[in-house]
Amino acid sequence: MKQSILILLFGLSIAAVIDGANILYIAGVASKSHFIWNRPLIYGLAARGHNVTALSLQVENNPPENVHFIQMEGVYEAIFNDPKSAQSDFFSMGKMSPFGMLFEFEEFCVNCCRFSLKSKGFAELMNYPADFRFDLVINDYLVGPCISAAALHKFSRPPLVLVTAYNGITTSTPFAGSFAYSGLVPNHEFDATEDMCFYDRVMNFFYNTWEHLLKEWYTFPKMDELVREKIPQIPYVADFNKLARVVLPNVNAAIQFSEPLMPNVIPVGGLQVVDSKPLPKDLQTVMNSAKNGVILFSLGSNVRSDTLGTERIMAILDAMKSFPDIQFLWKFENDLLAHPNMKLFITHSGLLSTQEAIWHGIPLIGFPVFADQYRNINYCTKVGVAMRLSIVKIDAEELKATIHEMMTNASYTQNMQRLSKVFRDQPEKPLDRAVWWIEWVLRNPDVTYLQSHAVEIGWLKKNAYDVLIFLFVAVAITSHVIVGVTYRIACKKHNGGKKLKNKQA
Ligand SMILES: *[C@@H]1O[C@H](CO)[C@@H](O)[C@H](O)[C@H]1NC(C)=O
Ligand SMILES: *[C@@H]1O[C@H](CO)[C@@H](O)[C@H](O)[C@H]1NC(C)=O
Repeated sequence: MKQSILILLFGLSIAAVIDGANILYIAGVASKSHFIWNRPLIYGLAARGHNVTALSLQVENNPPENVHFIQMEGVYEAIFNDPKSAQSDFFSMGKMSPFGMLFEFEEFCVNCCRFSLKSKGFAELMNYPADFRFDLVINDYLVGPCISAAALHKFSRPPLVLVTAYNGITTSTPFAGSFAYSGLVPNHEFDATEDMCFYDRVMNFFYNTWEHLLKEWYTFPKMDELVREKIPQIPYVADFNKLARVVLPNVNAAIQFSEPLMPNVIPVGGLQVVDSKPLPKDLQTVMNSAKNGVILFSLGSNVRSDTLGTERIMAILDAMKSFPDIQFLWKFENDLLAHPNMKLFITHSGLLSTQEAIWHGIPLIGFPVFADQYRNINYCTKVGVAMRLSIVKIDAEELKATIHEMMTNASYTQNMQRLSKVFRDQPEKPLDRAVWWIEWVLRNPDVTYLQSHAVEIGWLKKNAYDVLIFLFVAVAITSHVIVGVTYRIACKKHNGGKKLKNKQA
């Protein structure tokens, strides 16, 4: 009996090894929060028996034996320690127009590419034996087709799955063919709501067009140039985008402005929300003893609180002091949101924090700093689960009044609990869904049915801009001709009349 169980177990473990695929996971976005999001997916795949090689800017000690981190070292330092770079100062980025922010973002992507290519980690992967096979490549796509293109080229183009911790669906345009609906959805860097006036929509159209042109004419050629320095014979790097079978973005329709998705874009919003770890003892004690509730203050993992400046910090402390009964915690620790005594979350409105607050049903006061943080808080305000304040000038009185309103008016908590219920009400956990779709690609490595033809035909045709240009030109020519002919006829009559008169005279 024992023996047969042993044989069975042995058989199972062999089956797991055989079924386990060899997966390359590229996590090259220089942002801690993006790694926080990728982490559960890396481990989730490993838990299913896959052999995951994570080529990543951040690595972890003591991973399971089928997770192999290879670090692309020095990229964070190169990008954020450069005092001249706007990317090292999120507050100055917050003052930019969407044009500036979109450009700065593309520049950030190019920098991630440039410094990752220089890393020893990248060289290590490129030195893998020529016959080494990966069954699948997963790329955190936000920084574009750079390291992923090099890897796909080296390992004979295995199928590609794209993932992102971001919720801007239009960022999947180059590989899923997604649409930027300028009349409906504000660009992900645009501080606007769905109720855009005509002027907003004109600007939104320009932002979306600018973003597209930046990618096509600046980012991709630049990345191609950088990769080509290492691998001269590689095909144009942006063409590797077309290998993407499915895209898994951090999107959930219930918790953001709604917009249509392409069929191979599978929303896995909130996959980072895993069962929360038990709190450290001291925090647990503080949380348990706060009978009148706790308010959490956090600006996330990218913006350090010390960059706030004394004036802002004093204003925040001043506001906190006027609620002596309430326990305030100033900390980056989203696990606290799960505690029943947590009442309110004062946040920079980063996507992961916002999603976690919604998951746990905690209403928000948002201090958006830059980029998508505006749209996160704008959505939350719209559905009545949050109030928004300005980080540029923090006014203690205004903050006091806002905290008071949020703590006394039950509607925010009620709305948030309803939103939370809808966010959680899914057939499977977002992480399980992500893993299922990745395995779907492993099971169907050659299937391209879900991919949109939009990727092939490109932006101009897909949006029918060529047709619009043709119609515009046709209308312009026709009106020109009509006006010209009418004018001539009118002139002839007029002149003819004159001539007649002249003769008579
Ligand atoms: C698992 O990944 C590691 C690191 O890339 C590699 O050295 C090893 O050969 C892989 N194992 C299998 C069974 O493919
Ligand atoms: C609570 O807040 C909601 C949303 O701002 C508002 O409509 C409602 O009137 C407020 N209720 C009270 C009692 O102030």
